[in-house]
Amino acid sequence: MTSSELWSRATAERYDAEEAESSSAAVLGPVLDFLGELAGQGRALEFAIGTGRVGVPLRERGVPVVGIELSAPMAEVLRRKVDEDTLPVVLGDMAATVVPGEFTLVYLVYNTITNLLTQEEQVECFRNAARHLAPGGRFVIELGVPPLRFLPPGQVAVPFDVSERHLGFDTFDLVEQVLVSHHFTRDGADGRYRRGSSRHRYAWPAELDLMARIAGLDLERRVADWDGAPFTQDSAKHISVWRKPV
Ligand SMILES: C[S@@+](CC[C@H](N)C(=O)[O-])C[C@H]1O[C@@H](n2cnc3c(N)ncnc32)[C@H](O)[C@@H]1O
Repeated sequence: MTSSELWSRATAERYDAEEAESSSAAVLGPVLDFLGELAGQGRALEFAIGTGRVGVPLRERGVPVVGIELSAPMAEVLRRKVDEDTLPVVLGDMAATVVPGEFTLVYLVYNTITNLLTQEEQVECFRNAARHLAPGGRFVIELGVPPLRFLPPGQVAVPFDVSERHLGFDTFDLVEQVLVSHHFTRDGADGRYRRGSSRHRYAWPAELDLMARIAGLDLERRVADWDGAPFTQDSAKHISVWRKPV
């Protein structure tokens, strides 16, 4: 049993259109370079592979990819793009599901560790990554730095997108370390807005390092983006790489 919210069929059917920009060659190029280099000649396992935004093009580059995904509708959208032999997907929870074989790379992108809403499950997710890694293999996470510097006392929300079709803001439970992302998205031509929200357990890089250590992994590298920009105190997100000792 996982604390993650289950992504619905309606969300799955909208996902690729809404993520068109983040699925573009310009955005994905550096992601695929980064992950492809770490996979080397081995196999890659994507936790929460979704509709295959990253996994499918990585497979097209010649890296054998296996996915774990909780939502059957998300996996069904992926399956329209690529068959099971080419890119196997196991339905299950990334904190607990075990797939056969060893991997040189396990990766979990797009803030998705936060979909696990408890610290215990996030630790289990690191343990599960370590379980699948060959000695010397890497676990990669892409995650936003919690935007708490934008939340002075008395303020209840932090906007993260104010654009023509979308208004997005986060609200915070600082005790439970959970944020709720609120989305108002304009649908179709009638100009009406659809409201949606999702819960996330945010975590600082240092907490992830401790989770990695509990799982027997060592921090190898932390950068601010997929091009390898240095991670600084002003970075909005990080790409972190932990290595399983040889
Ligand atoms: C933001 S999407 C990311 C999908 C894909 N990795 C990408 O980069 O486009 C989050 C995905 O995580 C999946 N997910 C959430 N909790 C999960 C869990 N505990 N185990 C496996 N997948 C999970 C959701 O169903 C959804 O497909």
